[in-house]
Amino acid sequence: MDEPIISLRNVSYLYPHAEESQRPALSGIDLEIAAGEFVGLVGANGSGKTTLARLLNALIIPAAGEVRIAGLLTSDRSNHDRIRETAGMVFQNPDSQIVATSVGDDIAFGLENIGLPPEEIEARITEAAARFGVADLLEREPHWLSGGQKQRTVLAGVVALEPSLLILDEPTSMLDPASGRQFRRLVDELRRGGTTIIYITHMMEELVGAGRLVALDGGRIAFDGEPGDFFTSPELLERTSLEAPLAARLSAAVPRGDGKRLPLTIEQLAAEICA
Ligand SMILES: Nc1ncnc2c1ncn2[C@@H]1O[C@H](COP(=O)(O)OP(=O)(O)OP(=O)(O)O)[C@@H](O)[C@H]1O
Ligand SMILES: [Mg+2]
Repeated sequence: MDEPIISLRNVSYLYPHAEESQRPALSGIDLEIAAGEFVGLVGANGSGKTTLARLLNALIIPAAGEVRIAGLLTSDRSNHDRIRETAGMVFQNPDSQIVATSVGDDIAFGLENIGLPPEEIEARITEAAARFGVADLLEREPHWLSGGQKQRTVLAGVVALEPSLLILDEPTSMLDPASGRQFRRLVDELRRGGTTIIYITHMMEELVGAGRLVALDGGRIAFDGEPGDFFTSPELLERTSLEAPLAARLSAAVPRGDGKRLPLTIEQLAAEICA
């Protein structure tokens, strides 16, 4: 097998300023993700999803165990530039990620950092701005944008860098439904192009297309497998404060033949009803 793009071995993390009684945000995490996978990362509030995302981007270093991105150890500072070029991260809160005083400059920031020529930077800004619907906002001050507009700005800036690994921490939390759908189509496009995607969300509908789902509970991995198996386990859903997608809930409530896979999308459910 090729080297996994993400590899965590026995990783634990305790925030430095945590209170004495606080348990580690993550404990004993073993996880390997191959290049090209689309993995949904789920779990209740405080279960450790964002902490795991920060570990993947070398923003924090594990207290125990090791994290490797494309084979590079995050505990080695000299790897950080290469790790951050590989792993693009969209944070939960766009305010924490916007650095420049205009939307255009913000998208340009990362591109300038990796030293692209000016014409290439211009072209990538134009393309990303169009893709994420901020082309009319390039001159605007990010401070005055709506939450969804800020989130699109951040997404445009990260996707413009064309990272081979994209870590998305609740990327659609501030988008209206149409923009959310459009964003998911774009994620799908990136995935088909070979980008590895770690997608954190509380909305299970967003993960019906994921090949793999990892669920955290109290800083430990509670499930790692096919989304369909997760959605049919009331015990796991309860433990992780999650709800199966609408189609799965609906069909679970209707008496049906045995042995069939639970439909996860509205389209699959409709096909089943018609049959
Ligand atoms: N900067 C910090 N300092 C101390 N403790 C923290 C810090 N950030 C998070 N924690 C703690 O670490 C644990 C995991 O938090 P994390 O943010 O990773 O959860 P999450 O799964 O992303 O939750 P959410 O769904 O609310 O985004 C929680 O108990 C939280 O209180
Ligand atoms: Mg979080």
